[in-house]
Amino acid sequence: MERVITANWHVEKAYTLSVYQQHGGFKSLKKVFGMERGAVVPELIKSNLRGRGGAGFPVGAKWSFLPKGTDVPKYLVVNADEGEPGTFKDRFIMERDPHRLMEGCIIAGFTLGLKAAYIYVRGELVLAAQRMEAAIAELYATGLLGKNIQGSGLDFDIYVHRGAGAYICGEETALIESLEGKTGQPRLKPPFPAVVGVFGCPTVVNNVESIACVPLVIERGAEWWAAQGSEKNGGPKIVQISGTVKRPGTYEVPNGISLRDIVFSDLYGGGPRDGRTIRAVIPGGTSCPVLRADQLDVKHDFDALKEKPFDTMAGTSGVIVMDETVCVVRIAARIARFYHHESCGQCTPCREGTGWVSKILDRIEAGGAKRAEVDQLLDIVNNIRGNTICPFGDAVGMSIGAYLRQFPEEFIAHVEQGRCTYPAW
Ligand SMILES: Cc1cc2nc3c(=O)[nH]c(=O)nc-3n(C[C@H](O)[C@H](O)[C@H](O)COP(=O)(O)O)c2cc1C
Repeated sequence: MERVITANWHVEKAYTLSVYQQHGGFKSLKKVFGMERGAVVPELIKSNLRGRGGAGFPVGAKWSFLPKGTDVPKYLVVNADEGEPGTFKDRFIMERDPHRLMEGCIIAGFTLGLKAAYIYVRGELVLAAQRMEAAIAELYATGLLGKNIQGSGLDFDIYVHRGAGAYICGEETALIESLEGKTGQPRLKPPFPAVVGVFGCPTVVNNVESIACVPLVIERGAEWWAAQGSEKNGGPKIVQISGTVKRPGTYEVPNGISLRDIVFSDLYGGGPRDGRTIRAVIPGGTSCPVLRADQLDVKHDFDALKEKPFDTMAGTSGVIVMDETVCVVRIAARIARFYHHESCGQCTPCREGTGWVSKILDRIEAGGAKRAEVDQLLDIVNNIRGNTICPFGDAVGMSIGAYLRQFPEEFIAHVEQGRCTYPAW
């Protein structure tokens, strides 16, 4: 398959402006400057570009929600927090191809009449932040940022803001709070960021990959982009494969490719290591409900994975694979510990519930729990779900609930035999 989003990843020094331009960089911006401002959003809507930060919200529709004809400054916030376990794609865009992201930001600036873009990057991603700072300096030096960019009348700035590595600061309203210098805790919605976002102003929040795809949609055209994916899931996308496969890594795939192909194809995951059998796969980062190995014949896109009997999500396309040497009770316990640690503490069901779930799962894993605690666990996660300000609580409920639903016999075996019966070693 032709590499489109990742085309520059193996080009030497593609992170510099000159190399980016040698490979067609900033042609889309030039094209956009020659278009009517109102023409870009319909193009994005037609392309079926869906947000790549987890929820798959259509990018064009999100941009269309920003109020028009107001004097209040409007902003773009790029979510570069990349905190979902199993996710490692945005960092490569920022490290290897930062100008593509910048071009997407400037196109958004022109199209939506924005004052500035803030890129909120996870603190650990030091090289990503450095490469973006260097890219921004080059753009100011060549008049592609600042006042009256290339005579277009657009005044636009881009700022890089480094976070401090809190998972919750990837949630868009917690991110906005953190950007404003406050504790990173989610806000109640509504009002949505499109109306009251950063500094109280209308704001579009998009993931790094979402924004980096915008120049590509303009370059190739909406029809081309829409034709690359499955229905309503346009374009190629970046999947990340980790866990017990032969070829873990980051790959560009057509949207809607089957999950089986992602895991087993020699182009991508390469299947299980020799002599092993795959038993479980998380399709899009730890927040997504786990699937059993007999459920892999499903399109990997935002719609098909939601359908019954799969009941899961494409999330960030961070595919995590487990073979028979992996105890899923232990995985559930490990994930619960993560969520307990990362809960911001604002909502009682999440603050208290995640700790409770984590303790019970540790006890089940160690073989010291009672049978009734398995049912109690389901009850607790179902009471976290839907009872919190942000979707973090739903993520805990859905993901931990899925281990219990998909592998009940394994939890019961731990309780009844007082030990793990699964790992095949
Ligand atoms: C707990 C939590 C963590 C999140 N972390 C990220 C993240 O690291 N990166 C990201 O782009 N979106 C993350 N999101 C989703 C954002 O809230 C938001 O939906 C996304 O940035 C929108 O971008 P998109 O429409 O381009 O996908 C997270 C959501 C939740 C609830």
